[in-house]
Amino acid sequence: MKIGKKQLHMYGVFITVILCLSLIAMLVYGFRKKDSIEDDGKITIGFCADNLVIERWQRDQEIFQAKAKEQDVDVIVYNANEDNATQIKQIRLLIEKQVDVMVVIPYDKNGLKEVIGEAKKAGIKVIAYDRLINHADVDAYISFDNNKVGALQAIELTKVVPKGNYIIINGSPDDNNSFMFRDGYMGVLEPFIASGAINIVEDKWANMWREEYAYDIVQKALNDKMQIDAIIGANDRLAEAAIRALSEKGLGGSIYVAGHDADISACQRIVEGTQYMTVYKPIRLLAESAVELAIDLVNGKPIETDESINNGSYDVPYIKLDVLSVTIDTLEETVINDAFHQREDIYREN
Ligand code: GAL
Repeated sequence: MKIGKKQLHMYGVFITVILCLSLIAMLVYGFRKKDSIEDDGKITIGFCADNLVIERWQRDQEIFQAKAKEQDVDVIVYNANEDNATQIKQIRLLIEKQVDVMVVIPYDKNGLKEVIGEAKKAGIKVIAYDRLINHADVDAYISFDNNKVGALQAIELTKVVPKGNYIIINGSPDDNNSFMFRDGYMGVLEPFIASGAINIVEDKWANMWREEYAYDIVQKALNDKMQIDAIIGANDRLAEAAIRALSEKGLGGSIYVAGHDADISACQRIVEGTQYMTVYKPIRLLAESAVELAIDLVNGKPIETDESINNGSYDVPYIKLDVLSVTIDTLEETVINDAFHQREDIYREN
């Protein structure tokens, strides 16, 4: 049978089209394969941090990754550098990569509702780590007893300053923890305020947890010749900045200052007497428990807690870990005992 020129040309076009289509398909498939994680049956966790600047978050990440490695689980770490839009983009990337579960430290407590909804639709489990994610359908919230953090600060201070003028430097208003800490210390201070024994002379919030706010608040109060008897800094960096302003006026060590996080510098200040107390949160327990929780969630195991917390839209199972007060008398049994810091580093014996 004689094949005409026209037919030959048609075959040629047809073959070319087929070849192009399969090439495109291969490319798309290749890209998709490259984008999504290796489906080798291993669990992959997406770890989305607000920032990795503050001392504690670096420790959280290191312990988390070490525990995951030990459990033969892969971890993809993203750092949102304190930007909500960046965090949303990073969570979308993890959805594309088809991770099995996400562990998220939100920058903006109200900023992730929609994107967490997308992750859930993609069948990805979501854990809110240390800070609650509001209005989102998260599977679990693992953190510390943040209300007790604030309560311990006020309990220790009212023991030594049961009456006088207090300055309160709250954390970032974008962080749900700041409100839990505040409920804690205001809950303890209320009766002292009601009786007139304690007077709150300054009560401000440190946007983005920036310590400059703490420095400015205390410096201004001192310049205005305000009588200050005690200061609550919602974390040790804020306490450190408040103490810097005091020290510049030669008042370092003469006004009681409470912090939180048990940063090494805070423990050193407690020894030198410029900071009165801090709150120790066993980060190792939190990070390791979060890895186990992530694995359990992927394996469909029930969450072991009878606590829940309402995030404005959902009652979220809350795994709440205990916290400890650190003063010069309890350094040994808390941070040193847990090897959170070495005694020689705190007492600078080297
Ligand atoms: C809080 C956290 C604190 C703290 C702060 C600043 O959410 O619980 O440990 O340091 O953020 O990043």
